[in-house]
Amino acid sequence: MQAVRFSRRSLLTLAGGAAATVAAASVWTRSRQLRHGAGIHAAAEGAWRSTGGQLEVDLVAKDTAVAIPGGPARALTYNGLLPGPVLEVNPGDAVRIRLHNRLDQPTNLHYHGLHIPPGGTADNVFLNVAPGASQTYDFTVPADHPAGTFYYHPHRHGTVADQVFGGLGGVLIVRGELDRIPEVQAAQEQVLFLKDLPAGNDGTGRGMGMGMMLGREGPVLTVNGQVAPELSVPAGGLLRLRIVNGSNARFWRLALDDHPFHLIATDGGALEAPVELEELLLAPGERAEVLVQANRGGGRYRLLNLPYVRVRGGMMGGMAPGRGMSMGPRGGMGMGRGPGAGFGPGSASEPQGQLSIATLSYAGSVDPLPLPQRLLPVEPLPEPVRTRRFELNHGMAPGQGMVFLINGRPYDHHRTDTRVRLGDTEDWDVVNTGVMDHPFHVHINPFQVISRDGTPEPVRAWKDVVLVRPGETVRIRTRFADFPGRTVFHCHIFDHEELGMMGNLEIDA
Ligand code: C2O
Ligand code: CU
Ligand code: CU
Repeated sequence: MQAVRFSRRSLLTLAGGAAATVAAASVWTRSRQLRHGAGIHAAAEGAWRSTGGQLEVDLVAKDTAVAIPGGPARALTYNGLLPGPVLEVNPGDAVRIRLHNRLDQPTNLHYHGLHIPPGGTADNVFLNVAPGASQTYDFTVPADHPAGTFYYHPHRHGTVADQVFGGLGGVLIVRGELDRIPEVQAAQEQVLFLKDLPAGNDGTGRGMGMGMMLGREGPVLTVNGQVAPELSVPAGGLLRLRIVNGSNARFWRLALDDHPFHLIATDGGALEAPVELEELLLAPGERAEVLVQANRGGGRYRLLNLPYVRVRGGMMGGMAPGRGMSMGPRGGMGMGRGPGAGFGPGSASEPQGQLSIATLSYAGSVDPLPLPQRLLPVEPLPEPVRTRRFELNHGMAPGQGMVFLINGRPYDHHRTDTRVRLGDTEDWDVVNTGVMDHPFHVHINPFQVISRDGTPEPVRAWKDVVLVRPGETVRIRTRFADFPGRTVFHCHIFDHEELGMMGNLEIDA
């Protein structure tokens, strides 16, 4: 039973004899739980890869018995898998996903980071799939879509935080130009889907209250649904990690013993050149692709999750020094805070030390592989036609307790908060006047971070989630390209989104 939660890709790098057993179980899982539609085949390495320009998949959202050491006895899964199956497509592909809701509450699907239409049966987060019902999603991946690591997850307002905290989510890979750069192609690939889960005795983890205001974190840290998995790479080789923060609220601040990360892609795809990082901070919804060079003596290296404080002011700690450097040669993405009290593993306010979440060892060897020198151009966007301001904060609402606000208002399904014109480029100043970190996310169109508190961003990159810390003003630039329609922007701490920190964006043709 345990084996069914493993993705085959991760199995390939599991050390020792466990791999064979688990790989067999994975084959069983595929044939039994995933229906093969026309044009699909079960790719080696566990991804549901499109063939002949088509991907057709059934995803069954359900409550499933799981066996995670220290973790919950049951979790919410797609097709019984935690995380859900890796879906892999190419630019130009036709994608059909049939979502079957076997949960006891409504759900839907969002294709986080994809540049596809926001309406109809594409990335329409306003669809409601009732318990027992099914919904077919149909869309085409644009022929010029960038390659990258994307993230599918539920997005039904009112149930999304519970469902993501309960386990739902999976990785969607778009293959493309980045994958054809020879040094990148030579690397061994590994998805790392990061999710914290409630402890075994925490019940469903559903609920309100203080935990939800801070953003609920679980004490059980999983990587591809496993506690402390073993990874391996041949000595001399390159390991390409596609890392997704699939948590409801937890920030993951990663470092690998004795190995720097070479960042090659952010949320929306490739950088122009690799950026060396000692550590990598990922807020919920953020992704990163890094290369690791297996050029040390060999041995066992811990992948660590370091402490991180995401609440300031009167609640915990003080403002940290070094704020403002968002991505640089020695800092993580959006880092600049030294070690200190962190959240979890037991609760959102307990100090926590570093935790080893996986182990990397060398197995076999290859002729030393070089890092790529150049990746892909990241074109600057044109000058904006206007600048808007979005202020993130929280407040008390009569009868509701704490609510989270954008420009002073909690989310209203019926209200259009921001109306833009298709084809326009705009700057958005996202200002955090509260005391908690808020990772700000926009659907459909990626953006570039222009500056933080007036300091130009050192590296041009495509993003769709950006961390905005208390007191900060982050300027992002985006172009509303190709697709008119209605969509949303929100804080990607889903508890904050549920408590109001979301707005409706109307893109007029
Ligand atoms: Cu990943 Cu609207 O979110
Ligand atoms: Cu999204
Ligand atoms: Cu938030």
